Amino acid sequence: MKILITGSNGMLGHDLIEVLKDKHELILTTSKTLDITDKDGVIDFICKNNPDIVINSAAYTNVDGCEENQELAYNVNGEGVKNLALGCSKIDCPLVHVSTDYVFNGENTRPWVEDDEIGPISVYGKSKLKGEEAILEILEKFFIIRTAWLYGINGGNFPKTMLELAKNHSEITVVYDEVGTPTYTPDLACAISKLIETDYYGIYHITNSGSCSWCEFARYIFEVADEDVKVIPVTASEFARPAPRPHYSVLENKRWTDNGFKPLRHYKEAIKEYVELIK
Ligand SMILES: NC(=O)c1ccc[n+]([C@@H]2O[C@H](COP(=O)([O-])OP(=O)(O)OC[C@H]3O[C@@H](n4cnc5c(N)ncnc54)[C@H](OP(=O)(O)O)[C@@H]3O)[C@@H](O)[C@H]2O)c1
Repeated sequence: MKILITGSNGMLGHDLIEVLKDKHELILTTSKTLDITDKDGVIDFICKNNPDIVINSAAYTNVDGCEENQELAYNVNGEGVKNLALGCSKIDCPLVHVSTDYVFNGENTRPWVEDDEIGPISVYGKSKLKGEEAILEILEKFFIIRTAWLYGINGGNFPKTMLELAKNHSEITVVYDEVGTPTYTPDLACAISKLIETDYYGIYHITNSGSCSWCEFARYIFEVADEDVKVIPVTASEFARPAPRPHYSVLENKRWTDNGFKPLRHYKEAIKEYVELIK
């Protein structure tokens, strides 16, 4: 297939390339070569290149930054996605769009399924929801993939920050009242590569298996990295950040498994591989 990937130098974009490059013809774009907020440019680019599928991994992903730069957040995560959907509609090509667990409010006691009620509590979550809504309005052929707590080789992320801090801290404070599922970008990229071979369109939750709090995750990272760092649990309200986060955003990968796909491996297995790779 001819696949257009936006945000190709991002964390997920990097692994999408790795996973897809041998089997498909890739058209790679960055914010410099295709700014998704440029409506005419996006529609023009899609029509000229005529891809079989578009994968959007471009986004304004700074969750706290979104609170301050609301216009930018809505432009990239909302309007930008709408522009891609309009482009795809012109050539009748499916759009894969990566969304987030932050479209939920976090007030659940069981994992969220795809058709649970959404209710984002941050500007980031609200702007990502605008993107989802635009796709639902414009396209019939789409995969909206909500994922969570991403980490990979090509970008800043929680495990990297923890390992950096371990170099000169013997104890650190980490939030314990936010629970989710850390997800390794190569695993997500593999899942996307399988999904695009199908026409099982719709909204998906795709994460690694299992769940934990940030605090448990940090402890496990230090355990596998063999770092002697004491992790002190704090509440999210003690650890003040500009954007509120959902307290519980574990995503049940229901449509994924209902459609016959195997659950992704446990997050503990994935983070072990990652720590060994970057240490
Ligand atoms: N990171 C997480 O924990 C997480 C969790 C759940 C869902 N997600 C979603 O997963 C997707 C991938 O996330 P990621 O962590 O890989 O993101 P990332 O590393 O921040 O990469 C995002 C990319 O988007 C590009 N971009 C920003 N504005 C753009 C614009 N106007 N036009 C075109 N490209 C633009 C950036 O390009 P430049 O660098 O060139 O500006 C960047 O390479 C995003 O949709 C994100 O919302 C992420």
